Amino acid sequence: MMRTHYCGEVNREHLQQTVTFCGWAHRRRDHGGVIFIDLRDREGLVQVVCNPEQAETFKAAEGIRNEFVLKVTGVVRARPDGTVNTNLPTGEIEVVAQEIEVLNPSLTPPFLLDDEQLSENVRLTHRYLDLRRPVMQSNLKLRYRVAKTMRDYLDTHGFMEIETPMLTRSTPEGARDYLVPSRVHPGSFYALPQSPQLFKQLLMVAGYDRYFQITKCFRDEDLRADRQPEFTQVDIETSFMSEAEIMDMIEDMLRDMFKKVMDVDLPSPFPRMCYAEAMGRYGSDKPDMRIALEIIELTDIMRQVDFKVFREAADMEGGRVACLRVPQGGAMSRKEIDDYTDFVKIYGAKGLAYIKVNELAKGMEGLQSPILKFLTEPAVKSIIERSGASDGDLVFFGADKAKIVNEALGALRAKVGHERGFASKEWKPLWVVDFPMFELDEGNNRWQALHHPFTSPAEGHEHLLESDPGKALSKAYDIVLNGWEVGGGSVRIHRQEVQSKVFQALKISDEEAQEKFGFLLDALQYGAPPHGGLAFGLDRLVALMVGAESIRDVIAFPKTQRANDLLTQAPNVVDEAQLRELHIRLRQVDIAKS
Ligand code: AMO
Ligand code: AMP
Repeated sequence: MMRTHYCGEVNREHLQQTVTFCGWAHRRRDHGGVIFIDLRDREGLVQVVCNPEQAETFKAAEGIRNEFVLKVTGVVRARPDGTVNTNLPTGEIEVVAQEIEVLNPSLTPPFLLDDEQLSENVRLTHRYLDLRRPVMQSNLKLRYRVAKTMRDYLDTHGFMEIETPMLTRSTPEGARDYLVPSRVHPGSFYALPQSPQLFKQLLMVAGYDRYFQITKCFRDEDLRADRQPEFTQVDIETSFMSEAEIMDMIEDMLRDMFKKVMDVDLPSPFPRMCYAEAMGRYGSDKPDMRIALEIIELTDIMRQVDFKVFREAADMEGGRVACLRVPQGGAMSRKEIDDYTDFVKIYGAKGLAYIKVNELAKGMEGLQSPILKFLTEPAVKSIIERSGASDGDLVFFGADKAKIVNEALGALRAKVGHERGFASKEWKPLWVVDFPMFELDEGNNRWQALHHPFTSPAEGHEHLLESDPGKALSKAYDIVLNGWEVGGGSVRIHRQEVQSKVFQALKISDEEAQEKFGFLLDALQYGAPPHGGLAFGLDRLVALMVGAESIRDVIAFPKTQRANDLLTQAPNVVDEAQLRELHIRLRQVDIAKS
């Protein structure tokens, strides 16, 4: 037998027992006469003691360096008084080595596994070493537990896992496709799926009632901390379930998972908020509900003021003036306010007006602000009333197109909230519902689907698809957790004529629709059941649960922000013969640029 126990498993219960471990030398310390080796495996660390009396073992221990692979046999004993390490699960015991076998030496690792300041590039280049670090091991273990628990839940609720193709046609989820050239069909390409959306709908038409799949999705989009070019969805679809039934089941599944994996009780039911309210009060469709700050509407009162910046935004079609009250923000320094001003500029805000409320009893005298001179006393009074500001507070203002105000004040709310102690430590899930069907793509002046074009319009909103698309609401729902969108779904269109109307609103011609999604439109005419579902972003869920800043920390082999795999050096050039076989000739201009 190679091993009897994992290193991290032994404790006082094993005193006097002879045990055998296999693991890596995490650290070797020479204490003049006694050598200590911290031996590590996936379950933790244990201290191995090598005494000179065991001459052969001691000699072996002298040659051991970091990351050598060892097989160690020894006897478990209690650590002497005063040497107990309470930070370590195995800290009450140590193992006196009787036999040490070096199974394989190691080159000196390029970094210390304990180093907490490692650059991510170094970590990703030597990912197999980085993945040895206990924090990464525990992240990936939790990821496995999350996937397993969700899979078990779905299984016990009658769901069946069915695989769908990776080499397929474009599924419009709003990103660019990754394309795969065909050798057999010159000039033709497969697209990697942005999600299994169309296939899961076809499975519903085919009668597979309750489908799920834990699967990779591919999207060529600008990467961020919560976005990877390939990521994993827990993808779900059901037939004959109402929107409310689907949502109840999904949240029940999330509660079950949080309880089993983290022993956390999420609320029941999850609060629900319509999209318009989320944008109005939080400036975001994924508000972080842990933060006790809200954005306050001022557009209506600002239609009466003379201050140009506010008045113009209030009068503008689609404009908005709003404010964010920061309790006790009056103590903010000039520098802090300037930093916040620079921060909102990232979102396109032209400035960040503010009023400090020193002492309300003193009227205008008791306020401090660069915009006071532009505002009348009644206007200021109504702002103070509306915002509920009191002595010591600071009020920030945003005035612009609603999109800019929302993004700027929404992000500011989150930043100020976290930095200045307005965020609670709870888990705060939220359903965001009643999304619009479409949003305006201003560059091209045409409507685009806010979710995807297969989302059903809300009850009674079908006629708006033609007459007033901007007002049509959908049966889409997002699940938001602590400010992250962790899942999204909808009830789908199951009637062909409604699907056609949506394509019309999106200015997708009949020919184009037929060419791209003809197979779906056809399928909808062969007895498609009412159906709907949702997909979780597994990487995001896990990152939140382990408190990681980026989903890269919960993916075994992630890509960088520039979509590189530093370990395998992908993407990379291929040789001419391979290109020739694929009927591809590279454009020299593009290569020179990259
Ligand atoms: P959606 O596009 O909202 O819906 O994706 C579902 C969830 O997947 C996660 N996600 C991502 N995670 C990491 N990197 C990315 N690039 C990325 N993009 C999305 C998010 C998101 O909530 N077919 C629909 C689902 C449905 O309607 O059933 C879909 O893909 O957490
Ligand atoms: P200005 O008259 O441009 O000097 O602006 C006066 C104050 O209003 C400054 O504090 C600016 O930061 C702020 N400000 C300017 N434009 C906006 C805007 N669109 N939204 C919010 N505040 C603004």
